[in-house]
Amino acid sequence: MSQPVSMSGPRPGRCRVCDADVVEFLDLGAQPLSDAFLTPKDIGHEFFYRLAVGRCTGCTMVQLMEEVPRERMFHAEYPYHSSGSSVMREHFAATARRFLDTELAGTEDPFVVELGCNDGVMLKTVHEAGVRHLGFEPSGSVGRLAAESGVRVREAFFEESSAADLRRREGAADVIYAANTLCHIPYMDSVLRGVDALLAADGVFVFEDPYLGDIVERTSFDQIYDEHFFFFTARSVRAMARRAGLELVGVERLPVHGGEVRYTLARAGSRQPSPAVAELLAEEEARGLADPRTLDAFAERVARHRDELVALLRRLRAEGRTVAAYGATAKSATVTNYCGIGTESVSFVSDSTPAKQDRLSPGMHLPVVPPEVFAKARPDYALLFAWNHAEEIMRKEEDFAREGGRWILYVPEVRVV
Ligand code: SAM
Ligand code: TMP
Ligand code: ZN
Repeated sequence: MSQPVSMSGPRPGRCRVCDADVVEFLDLGAQPLSDAFLTPKDIGHEFFYRLAVGRCTGCTMVQLMEEVPRERMFHAEYPYHSSGSSVMREHFAATARRFLDTELAGTEDPFVVELGCNDGVMLKTVHEAGVRHLGFEPSGSVGRLAAESGVRVREAFFEESSAADLRRREGAADVIYAANTLCHIPYMDSVLRGVDALLAADGVFVFEDPYLGDIVERTSFDQIYDEHFFFFTARSVRAMARRAGLELVGVERLPVHGGEVRYTLARAGSRQPSPAVAELLAEEEARGLADPRTLDAFAERVARHRDELVALLRRLRAEGRTVAAYGATAKSATVTNYCGIGTESVSFVSDSTPAKQDRLSPGMHLPVVPPEVFAKARPDYALLFAWNHAEEIMRKEEDFAREGGRWILYVPEVRVV
């Protein structure tokens, strides 16, 4: 690596990438762990932390002000299953096929490593193509599902030591990939040293995560929760890459999960950056995405959207309407706890994930029920927490709308459809 990245441990108010001061611009208050669905006996023993976001005065990286210990979030009962959405299953199958057909075509005995392979949604296709691979997945609950589909999984956090160990045992990786995982990792210095240890000389490190540009544009403040530590832009990723001897050589906007960017990093000088990199950097500059005033204006909109949503739910309650919610997303922990949405406004949340069902949502304790209960209950309104899967869910639940049910959305604006 060309320069040491960051410090050895977290320092309050200092950037986890470059160690400069981080200035807070949004405080979403005390929040529970976003994926900690409870049983009634857990009430009173929930872990809370302060959810606030700031911007680094050095590298511009937007990040949480407080860090939740990783073992509290990712463990043997981690409930998020990547394969729960057909759109995402197709997205990851296409991603794998693209690696196989382009990046890895012509490489002898290629090796693909994934961080956060979850239930194997992407690596399954790599495995089926007979290509050497390994997924790092610290959450045993989902890693086990990946292993059952034939994917090779290591139940470990990807970091410098585990990456260097893999390099010693199995050689360099041609593709290192992470979807919705890199932004979850505050110890970025260690991860980048791990990438440096593992990546082949002409390999690529590809990762995709929610894009700050989309979050600001859509006021999707519910993308902010414990597991989302970093909010990347092309500018901040480029700065981060440089500190690690890497270069940002590709960017691609993705429509999934409410707007993401897929970044491609390579060893500095090994590849020509695509024109899309300069274009996105210029667009970010024109939009003032790194400007503190843009982020302050975003914070003001967040408070306004909260007030509008709370007022709408209050009005519906006063009118005697029934309201349920749809999708017990990690994102919804932020919305419900920040807005104070409890069972007096929303009677339950429908979710297709067995590990979330018959549990209570974190902090506000909304009961989570299977979709069959939603279909039978026929509420007047459904608050769509899984707005990023709107098309898929509305298609699945077309009976609800046909019979007069209405969806409540709050991204990009609070509205009823
Ligand atoms: N890649 C999948 C997707 O896009 O749907 C899973 C995303 S899930 C939100 C994040 C995953 O990253 C979890 O399964 C978690 O256990 C895993 N994870 C967290 N920290 C990690 C680390 N340091 N190394 C590897 N995986 C990690
Ligand atoms: P995500 O936004 O983090 O991907 O979470 C989506 C949540 O919504 C997850 O708990 C699964 C749930 N879900 C349904 O209940 N029905 C669906 O059709 C889809 C796509 C997701
Ligand atoms: Zn910084």
